[in-house]
Amino acid sequence: MSSSDDPRAIAASSCGPRDSRSGTGDPGDAASSSSDHGDRAAPSAGAVDCRIRAVRARRVWDSRGRPTVEAEIELAGGAVGRAIVPAGASKGSREAHELRDGGAPFGGLDVLQAVAHVETEIARAVVGLRADDQVALDQRLIELDGTPTKSRLGANATLAVSMAAAHAAAAARRVPLHEYLGGAAATLMPLPQIQIFGGGAHAGRRVDIQDFMVVCPAARTFAEALEWTAEVYRHAGLVMQARGASLGVADEGGWWPDFVSNEEALTTLVEAIERAGYAPGEQVAIALDIAASDFGREGRYTLGLDAKVLDSDGMIELLLGWIDAYPIVSIEDPLGEDDADAFVRFTRAAGDRLQIVGDDFLVSDAALVADAAALGAGNAVLLKPNQRGTLSETRAAWDAAQAHGYAGIVSARSGETEDTTIVHLAVGWGTGQLKVGSFARGERMAKWNEALRIEERLGPRATLARPLPRRPR
Ligand code: PGA
Ligand code: ZN
Repeated sequence: MSSSDDPRAIAASSCGPRDSRSGTGDPGDAASSSSDHGDRAAPSAGAVDCRIRAVRARRVWDSRGRPTVEAEIELAGGAVGRAIVPAGASKGSREAHELRDGGAPFGGLDVLQAVAHVETEIARAVVGLRADDQVALDQRLIELDGTPTKSRLGANATLAVSMAAAHAAAAARRVPLHEYLGGAAATLMPLPQIQIFGGGAHAGRRVDIQDFMVVCPAARTFAEALEWTAEVYRHAGLVMQARGASLGVADEGGWWPDFVSNEEALTTLVEAIERAGYAPGEQVAIALDIAASDFGREGRYTLGLDAKVLDSDGMIELLLGWIDAYPIVSIEDPLGEDDADAFVRFTRAAGDRLQIVGDDFLVSDAALVADAAALGAGNAVLLKPNQRGTLSETRAAWDAAQAHGYAGIVSARSGETEDTTIVHLAVGWGTGQLKVGSFARGERMAKWNEALRIEERLGPRATLARPLPRRPR
């Protein structure tokens, strides 16, 4: 029986502004900072009924022109929250299941079944629940689906609802989502990891390595980190143009990787950092996402561009050589998701001077993070809500990371939209790092620009996280 049948429920479900979570007290500021999500502040400043009154969904389109799910939740008090689910291309095999319709339309990628699940089964199950009890709501979604991977309803259906509920609850409290999630004390801005060259599955496998990124460990503010990155991105484009290798951009907005070897991307990136006027390693350092599961299985890694097949130790040696030669401070998925032993060996060899991130390897899963920590595999986890299908489960992975001394990086997917939820997660949860793709294309810039708004709103209370070492030469 839903709580809406209980006459006491209205008082009990009040979710009006709470002292500890109300921001500046200016209702206008919450309304403006959440307007990108279509949220509406509740009509009065008093207690607002936070029970879910209606759930809607629609098919919208992502940055690759593919269908994806948007959900909209309306609360009894009138607040509305909206969220769109992203989609990956280089996925871990243990990710939650994204429901696609199959058949001829749109290459089998339509999401009409997932949309229908939100509007019928999920809506019936969550109407009457409180939007501000995220754990209970997500638990309801998990039980309703009933499979270990959300393959029945679709993780794209459940995540859209999970995120939309958080937006609605934040709107009801008249605070932006980051503050709803983390309270007024959540003032840590994430250090951004920003792609300069795309590769791997996002660039037709033109190079094997997926992301050649920069971080700015010496920047004083998030805004400054973006300024430095903008210059590096621009100079990287000029270098490519001068070589006649400027061929547009890859899926996440990084320059198209027209290189003769994987390593040439690294030398070019250092050149771009220097031309932009920054000290490589000291001011602007390199982060890589090898995405090794895309070209390695059972300890055999095929680097197509370099015409090399390496075993796990060969792969480790290659990466250790790169770490010595280039100012690299973070490497994601250096080895395949099925190569945990090699992950451990690589962590023993380089974990003291390098952030080693599990993405396909850990798929934002709390239990896998705990297992990896017990083995000593990696020291950081990528956090992608659609790898799990609810916000609570993604949050649990971050809790597990903190419990085991792992760093956390909230991350976008290669198929994105204007949705900026992940930026609020990074600030609200205080993860200290954010990865969104490159410094081009609207779906990427929407997130960087949202982070600028948040930093400005936090004012002097904002501090930029410094999770990564500098590597002066
Ligand atoms: P994906 O890539 O969204 O295509 O999985 C992003 C990443 O590997 O970090
Ligand atoms: Zn990755």
